[in-house]
Amino acid sequence: MQMAQSTLGSVVRINESRLWHTLMEMAKVGPGVAGGNNRQALTDEDGQGRALFRRWCEEAGMSISVDQVGNIFATRTGTNPNARAVCMGSHLDTQPVGGRFDGVLGVLAGLEVVRTLNDLAVESEHPIVVTNWTNEEGSRFAPVMMASGVYAGVHSVDWAYARQDKQGRTFGAELERIGWKGDEPVGTRKFDAYVELHIEQGPILEAEGIDIGVVTGGQGLTWLQVTFTGRSAHAGSTPMGKRRNAGLAAARAVELVQTVAMHHQPDAVGTVGRLELRPNSTNSVPGSAELTVDIRSPDAAVLQDMETRIREGVALIALELGVSGDVQRLQHAAPVAFDAGCVELVRDQARSLGYSFRDIVSGAGHDAYWLARVAPTAMIMCPCVDGISHNEAENISPQWAAAGTNVLLHTVARLAKASF
Ligand code: GLV
Ligand code: MN
Ligand code: MN
Repeated sequence: MQMAQSTLGSVVRINESRLWHTLMEMAKVGPGVAGGNNRQALTDEDGQGRALFRRWCEEAGMSISVDQVGNIFATRTGTNPNARAVCMGSHLDTQPVGGRFDGVLGVLAGLEVVRTLNDLAVESEHPIVVTNWTNEEGSRFAPVMMASGVYAGVHSVDWAYARQDKQGRTFGAELERIGWKGDEPVGTRKFDAYVELHIEQGPILEAEGIDIGVVTGGQGLTWLQVTFTGRSAHAGSTPMGKRRNAGLAAARAVELVQTVAMHHQPDAVGTVGRLELRPNSTNSVPGSAELTVDIRSPDAAVLQDMETRIREGVALIALELGVSGDVQRLQHAAPVAFDAGCVELVRDQARSLGYSFRDIVSGAGHDAYWLARVAPTAMIMCPCVDGISHNEAENISPQWAAAGTNVLLHTVARLAKASF
């Protein structure tokens, strides 16, 4: 998998200002209200971002293929047509109040790697592919990491097509509407290796003044949907003792998730990010409540214990308040360990480029988690300001982006056997 690095190789760097300019151009597509982005999966804005990415890739001489769930594969030809491609990628979709770099950096850094190889007229034995995975965020169509999950065989194409947003529009119909339902059968193309650059989305690297996170793996995550059903009633004339208040049950469930996560410190997190009450009217006792639970831990046993405690706690809350409580699993991804050889390769590149680096476990979910099931996979992280992400204030510096992209360049150059 590895080859000796020449003297020329050790001085090759990506073009920092071109990378930054490209990131800022993409950030103009689907602007948010506070300097970030709202480019949710399969919206018109997602379509515009994709079109811009396709144009840039074509200008860089790459050929484009789109699979049936909208994953975009931009290929730079290798000298050995029989060699499997080395893939870089991440996602261009954002949270509703998202930042400019979550996911976007990994895709556009891949493009910058190809542009750099083009500048130097460097060939590689293996083809190099830059991928935009559809709907990593999962905020419009649950679950997260959806189309990379289809690619890796975790979900079926039809199951993905049937996912609905809050307005009842399906993933399949929206993919078709924005014109990005491709022909390529999902998961048929195989990769020799996959490398994803991402911002840390946490505070560790910046606080420690470290340039590069060498990601050894990621924590597991489970998404649950909890529904309480009680009885809607008049807020003025229904005595407190006669209520079947689904809203109160939801409030207790929010507290339950907090308590369960606190029980497993420091290695667990738990969040209720969505809560909907019905009829959601000031003078009505809520008759039903629906909330989502996001729990994560690097330890599979801890994650299982959290889910069990939440299920038991929901049943108890329901019993106490005379409502019914239902818990459905929306998503589960076990903790992931990345390929030891690829991780070591990333570490070697960070070292030889003179960057400070440390091992890190990813807190967030990434497409790389599913790719790790079907190809040797590694991730590279760069710091982000105050660890803030899933927030329009998310920020990084051009230098941080460039350092991560340089490590990506050299890692991929080794994997693809580039001629420097
Ligand atoms: C994806 O962005 C996640 O970690 O929720
Ligand atoms: Mn992301
Ligand atoms: Mn995200």
